[in-house]
Amino acid sequence: MTRVLPEVDLEICRQKNAEKWRLYPPDVLPVWVADMDFEVAPAVREVLRNALERSDWGYPLDPRRSEIPEVFSERMERKFGWSLDPKRVEVMSEVVQAIYLALLQFSEPGDGVLVQTPIYPPFLQSVQETGRRLIEVPLVDSSDGYVLDLDLTRSSCTPEVKILLLCNPHNPTGRVFTSKELEALAGIALEHDLIVLSDEIHADLVYPGHAHTPFASLSPEIAKRTVTFYSASKAFNIAGLRCAVAAFGSENLQRRFCGIPRHARGGLSQPGLLATKAAWLEGESWLEDVLSLLRQNRDYVVSEFPKAISGISVHAPEATYLAWLNCADLHLKPSPYHHFLNKGRTGFSEGEAFGEPGRDFVRLNFATSKEVLSEVLTRCFSSIE
Ligand SMILES: Cc1ncc(COP(=O)(O)O)c(C=O)c1O
Repeated sequence: MTRVLPEVDLEICRQKNAEKWRLYPPDVLPVWVADMDFEVAPAVREVLRNALERSDWGYPLDPRRSEIPEVFSERMERKFGWSLDPKRVEVMSEVVQAIYLALLQFSEPGDGVLVQTPIYPPFLQSVQETGRRLIEVPLVDSSDGYVLDLDLTRSSCTPEVKILLLCNPHNPTGRVFTSKELEALAGIALEHDLIVLSDEIHADLVYPGHAHTPFASLSPEIAKRTVTFYSASKAFNIAGLRCAVAAFGSENLQRRFCGIPRHARGGLSQPGLLATKAAWLEGESWLEDVLSLLRQNRDYVVSEFPKAISGISVHAPEATYLAWLNCADLHLKPSPYHHFLNKGRTGFSEGEAFGEPGRDFVRLNFATSKEVLSEVLTRCFSSIE
């Protein structure tokens, strides 16, 4: 497969049906939801083109026979040295759906769920909408970046707390928690008998100098209480195709999860299964190219935004194509998000949606061209003149 660097064609982007490009009027530059503006990997395009030519859109095979569990397990072993049994992998249509189901199956209404805020908004919604109790443990903004508050995590573990809902790598801060940090969290989970729901959807997007540790790989006893969620959707830019996996560290957890019958868990998308398999089997060199491009974009954002706008600060994300911009010193009203949208015609993700610690922040998605990033910077700068 030839290596083709992804390109951004704004004319094509503007024709897309994806919400990133549909939510705002055309004069707003959208840099919010976690879709990339790049073309997808050649291997993914090819498998979908071939399926289109065959009109291959019938019902998919039983997901267990789709080979996704085997392909996923082999990939986790290869990339992270994490051994898992493909029999313990369920294919789902989305990570968020799987998180909701896991909360319903592994806890009771009123039970506490620990969440490190600021956090990807569906974490907050899933806890609230299932009637569980949100126990926020804000990350600490240190000079070295965001760190876990282990003391607060420990002291928050009352007997009603049953679940740790972990996002690693972390959205929106881009932290890749070290194995030492995760071991400390694991110790708390063991001590307080917590089930850990570990969303690792951004693990393919880790920059050099950092290493992803799957939570379930820490030890066999931790694996037994962990469910890992993963998908090709972020790294391979195929979120609209709807395919994800949930990997269970024990048969018992899997059985409890599958207490919700297959049809109630939702059907699967044939294009999603095909694209995921192609991405995981044949997309690695494309991903490498994308990562080096994202790294350049990250470095541009981290150096140029604070330089041009002195009230903005940001810690370099260690993973993801998301930059968590602290705008507190700009004192923008009614909020940084609304200011930049109304006066700068730029559509960031709204910081407050990530929980109270995000009030003075916006999240920038830098998976786009340098030209777009430079235009975003010009617009933001002009809006505060
Ligand atoms: C941490 C995290 N989990 C889950 C998702 C969404 O996954 P899915 O579309 O499979 O529900 C995202 C999307 O940005 C995300 O950042």
